[in-house]
Amino acid sequence: MTSFGRPRRHSAIVDSTNERARRLAIEGAPSGTVVTAGQQAAGRGRRGRAWSAPAGKALLCSAILAPLERQHALLPLAVPLAVCEAVESLARLECQVKWPNDVWFERRKLAGVLIEAQPPAWAVIGIGLNVAIEPGEFPGDLRQPAVSVGHGVDVEDALTAVCERLETWVDATPERVVAEFTKRDALAGRRISWVGAGDGAQEGSGLAEGVDERGNLKVLTDAGEPLSLGAGEVQLIAD
Ligand code: BTN
Repeated sequence: MTSFGRPRRHSAIVDSTNERARRLAIEGAPSGTVVTAGQQAAGRGRRGRAWSAPAGKALLCSAILAPLERQHALLPLAVPLAVCEAVESLARLECQVKWPNDVWFERRKLAGVLIEAQPPAWAVIGIGLNVAIEPGEFPGDLRQPAVSVGHGVDVEDALTAVCERLETWVDATPERVVAEFTKRDALAGRRISWVGAGDGAQEGSGLAEGVDERGNLKVLTDAGEPLSLGAGEVQLIAD
């Protein structure tokens, strides 16, 4: 079992905590090492996007997991479950997960996860959790609405809670991850559209039908074909 948070490397400002953690992982830093920062100058999001947050108001952390083993196959789904539980231990919010790994509260994005890995040597688990960002402080060009934990929660308390829950979820069996993901699945039974899914399913729309044992998103296309999405970006189609 990996415990997270020791050693911890904190900086007031870095380019990207994922980048710093990646360099440490290459140098052989131990599993459980956590890199945090008050601010990032070049924070990275999924699909090559940037990620920004006002200084000191978001949890910006990257945890090293090494080595990667078979039981980590569903890590991308396990990490947002850890974040959901951490948030719910700190504030009266009920979180959901939007496949593959956005954490949502009331259909607004509370946290994003970016995992960068060099299997089987290591993975860097990057988490950006909006802790105390006021509604007017989010960038104006966000692709989807965002929200913070609020409730007077402190970034350091959020880090402690996230590290604790990561310990539980990182090594959870795939069956347990799928079962818990299913309970928190924000897309299940809803109409969605997707892009960049590969496998001849570059883009399309249909009904989300949960995740399979490999962590893929099951969909029934508008043409009535069952499909399993292993990558890409999905969006809810407004009701
Ligand atoms: C996403 O939803 O696109 C993923 C966002 C991940 C952002 C976090 S912030 C801490 C860590 N360092 C980075 O550069 N990115 C991740």
